[in-house]
Amino acid sequence: MKKELAKDSNETVSDTIQKYRDYVITDFVKSVAPIVISSGTGAVVRDISGREYLDCFAGISVVNAGHCNKEVIAAAKAQMERLVHCSSYSYHVQPLADLAEKIAQITPPGLTKSFFGNSGTEAIEGALKLARLYTGKHEFIALHGSFHGRTYGALSISGNWSRKKRGGPYAPGVSFAPAPYVYRSFWRDDPEECGRQCAKAVEDVIRFATSGDVAAFIAEPVMGEGGIIAPPANYFREVKKILDRHGILFIADEVQCGFARTGKMFAIEHYGVVPDILVTAKGIADGFPLSAFTTRPEIASAFKPGDHLSTFGGNPVCCAAGLASIAFLERENLPSHAAAMGEYALSRLREIQRSNSLRGDVRGRGLMIGIELVQDDELTPAAAEAEAIRDACLHQGLLVGVGGVYGNVLRFQPPLVISRSQIDQAIDIFSKVVKEVTAK
Ligand SMILES: Cc1ncc(COP(=O)(O)O)c(C=O)c1O
Repeated sequence: MKKELAKDSNETVSDTIQKYRDYVITDFVKSVAPIVISSGTGAVVRDISGREYLDCFAGISVVNAGHCNKEVIAAAKAQMERLVHCSSYSYHVQPLADLAEKIAQITPPGLTKSFFGNSGTEAIEGALKLARLYTGKHEFIALHGSFHGRTYGALSISGNWSRKKRGGPYAPGVSFAPAPYVYRSFWRDDPEECGRQCAKAVEDVIRFATSGDVAAFIAEPVMGEGGIIAPPANYFREVKKILDRHGILFIADEVQCGFARTGKMFAIEHYGVVPDILVTAKGIADGFPLSAFTTRPEIASAFKPGDHLSTFGGNPVCCAAGLASIAFLERENLPSHAAAMGEYALSRLREIQRSNSLRGDVRGRGLMIGIELVQDDELTPAAAEAEAIRDACLHQGLLVGVGGVYGNVLRFQPPLVISRSQIDQAIDIFSKVVKEVTAK
């Protein structure tokens, strides 16, 4: 019986993999992992043959409340029985109203009005448009190494060659400032100075690279795709002063770092700064496709009839899931749990860094952790090693991500429900794999 089951499931595995080859466009990824995931619970996913993997990437930092969270699923199911879609911007629907109210309560003060879309990039596009309409200005400033999405506008403001290559030329009117990437800056031993100098550089960019017609500065409070870079504590405060002097809005892109991942509900709260527009997606609804941008009423009212819409945006099922997910994050105190588990994981990873040949930087905030691998003191990126470690971890039953501008940063961004013993399990596997890969 067991044998048959395995045979059946093996056939299904190869069927699915073959169908991907025949019918799915995957040419844009180096390789799809050779497994077929079929179920998940908490911080664990299972493949079609029943093998378990400890998921420390959470579907690219999405399922913050855990895979198939029972409360989220129940809320979505109940909503599905009532109404799936009717265009939430042509008619009023209760789940959208309730979620907008909840987001107004949990985002930084003054940000009370939300627009809901389907993906991070869609919310970014909407935020950019709104910033232009409100300010009557047209240019943007973004950071080197940033990533804001895959549509034309979002890629135009992304400062990451590896995501932009072969897609240009991009939209004019975008200037880039150096990211406060302490590890690769002149001020590796003085984060505060790095924060101060990089903030000053924003003012230089305004003066020397723009026509003075800047609508907004956009940044991720913790950079995700760029390699898990948390700016120094003083950075956003200094930048905000400069922006205020020049009448430029601050858009915080919390698509990846929002919803408790960094140890606070929103990562910008670590910096004591209130953005003008806050953009969210990924962790908002535990895997249901939903995004939002949230702002002050006077900024929101720059939209006039016909300026914006999204057919599926604010879908009632996704909004119901979002509400249940946020209620779960709050009730289970997951911001504090993420902070504590993140500290613990960082301390164990730093031990590994000290005790063997892992060369590079271990950094992060909450459960948004990056391990940047380098080959030498010149910080030559060790991208091949990062990929080899990720692939070897997969074979050992652990899912981690790889990112960074140079493709050399291993990313540890598990569901926030991960337990301490699961973190130990993940880091034990990681440690063993690092030893094996670096010994080669
Ligand atoms: C910071 C940030 N902004 C925007 C996006 C785009 O989001 P999506 O893939 O949902 O369009 C991403 C995706 O990784 C992201 O990390």
